[in-house]
Amino acid sequence: ADIYFLFSGLIGRSWAMVFAAGGFKVKLYDIAQQQLTSALENIRKQMKELEASGFLKGALSVEQQLALISACTDLKAAAEGATFIQECTPENLELKKKIFSQLDLIVGDNVILSSSTSCLLPSKLFTGLKHVKQCIVSHPVNPPYFVPLVEIVPHPETDPSTTERTFALMKKIGQSPVKLNREIEGFVLNRLQYAVISEAWRLVGEGVISPTDLDLVMSDGLGMRYAFIGPLETMHLNAEGISNYCERYREGMKLVLNTFGPVPEFSGEVEQKINQAMSEKIPVVPKVLDARRKRRDEYLTGLAKLKKQMKCD
Ligand code: NAI
Repeated sequence: ADIYFLFSGLIGRSWAMVFAAGGFKVKLYDIAQQQLTSALENIRKQMKELEASGFLKGALSVEQQLALISACTDLKAAAEGATFIQECTPENLELKKKIFSQLDLIVGDNVILSSSTSCLLPSKLFTGLKHVKQCIVSHPVNPPYFVPLVEIVPHPETDPSTTERTFALMKKIGQSPVKLNREIEGFVLNRLQYAVISEAWRLVGEGVISPTDLDLVMSDGLGMRYAFIGPLETMHLNAEGISNYCERYREGMKLVLNTFGPVPEFSGEVEQKINQAMSEKIPVVPKVLDARRKRRDEYLTGLAKLKKQMKCD
């Protein structure tokens, strides 16, 4: 059977759980044995909790899924027999380049070298590698176990078959892949996210709305739709199709968009104001933050279930 080789860490662990839930063999690699031991322990703990709450993915039991995951601290041994390698090291260009150049020397011509990077461009990561045709970015959303989107971003020299195989693999493990036709700063998800964050920042900075109400506009307003249909389908449905929407709202949209301010500094008074409001609601204490993250994952799991139940396309 195919073997998938992943790096440990927060994202690596989540990927490992996604692969194991799909019934696939996974090898975890890290520089330190201690990291691997804690990764395996953490995966077991997470799976047990998911099982107890009825949210464990896949048809296999926890023990069967855990049996699919092995670990090693030797890069060459980890790469042995692997058909797909998902790199999940810290977001550091030099480190990632080093790892990929090491892998470049080890792997054959059929292995896909994929990076989890959130914002490093493929042209920065992979240029000059002998196996550049087999290299690609597969950017997950945290936590990938609950949020299925994966942005697949090729290097200009990536072979189309690499893109196709990665896309098919992501589908096979139950994720929701999208293909970018070319690389661009922030890929697509973060460009959209930053557009929202910057206008949120300006609105709060200009005193139009409080930080907590700003969040409500998303969670109880816009976000209600966006979990099911995107902004373009929203336009399509909010009028008699896109063209009719443009006819009705194009001038109004442009009028509003022309009042948008410059890119915020994300510092100073506005930062303090937003930090204060958020910290009042959720104190910046590890225990409290962890509890909130857990709650967030429960919301996402519930939403994922609902989407499945409603057979969302
Ligand atoms: P992390 O810090 O939790 O994990 C990094 C892992 O890499 C650790 O286990 C560490 O021991 C290991 N490591 C460090 N140096 C190494 C080396 N030389 N060789 C092999 N392993 C090494 O980081 P996290 O959050 O899992 O991020 C990993 C990647 O995933 C980053 O590129 C990040 O941008 C991307 N990503 C992260 C998301 C997030 O929300 N955390 C979301 C989407 C992508």
